[in-house]
Amino acid sequence: MAAVSDRLPAFPWDKLEPYKATAAAHADGIVDLSVGTPVDPVPELIQRALTGAADSPGYPTVWGTPALRDAITGWLRGRLGASAAGHRNVLPVVGSKELVAWLPTQLGLGAGDKVAYPRLAYPTYEVGARLCGAEAVVYDDPTELDPAGVKLLWLNSPSNPTGKVLPKEELIRIVAWAREHGVLLFSDECYLELGWEAEPVSVLHDEVCGGSYEGIVAVHSLSKRSNLAGYRAAFIAGDADVLGELLEIRKHGGMMTAAPVQAAVVAALGD
Ligand SMILES: Cc1ncc(COP(=O)(O)O)c(C=O)c1O
Repeated sequence: MAAVSDRLPAFPWDKLEPYKATAAAHADGIVDLSVGTPVDPVPELIQRALTGAADSPGYPTVWGTPALRDAITGWLRGRLGASAAGHRNVLPVVGSKELVAWLPTQLGLGAGDKVAYPRLAYPTYEVGARLCGAEAVVYDDPTELDPAGVKLLWLNSPSNPTGKVLPKEELIRIVAWAREHGVLLFSDECYLELGWEAEPVSVLHDEVCGGSYEGIVAVHSLSKRSNLAGYRAAFIAGDADVLGELLEIRKHGGMMTAAPVQAAVVAALGD
């Protein structure tokens, strides 16, 4: 039987090892930008929330505590302008990388389906397609894709690695295209709060999605915006039917966020 890992590309950071060795041999050493890992401390407030919930002997739930869902929906409404967000529109995940990698599988995609993502992109979109046996398709402009067979479309704004930010009008155009063709749109927005010259906008903003989350989901991570990469804290928000299905599957799969981490996220989003 063929190994599943045979479907995967070389692990990106392994591929970089020889280049790192060359750079490290330079007299002044290496400036290592290969992994975007936070180096600033976890804010005290978040650390206190984590340790305050250290006595958590029971199993947490995949959907999270009501307090966590309140914190997420409050943040979606206040920070993203997603005024219709309720509890059925949110689902915590164990860091966004696992979600990106396993989403196509959890959506039931496989051979004959297509997963599309930007030509220059975070490598895990491709990995997700390959893990479930779907075809990985790259795009320059998603609305120029042949929609036949495209079951999942990834956006990433602001983009890793290009930094490109999709303007509101562009998002409106892409959301309309995806809905017209029945393509499920997932927007990876884990750098949304780190805009530099531009003010990044979410697909969940009322003016982008028209106040309805049908066919669209945003992915958010606490790793970069709150220096929480070590906690594995993220969530998705949007279409209630899609999230309900994922909740069911993730419950059976035991993909729950640790209870102290849930408490830490409540503190982080409320700050
Ligand atoms: C575009 C993008 N999406 C998702 C992730 C995964 O982040 P995490 O798993 O820490 O939430 C990263 C991490 O660098 C990223 O750059």
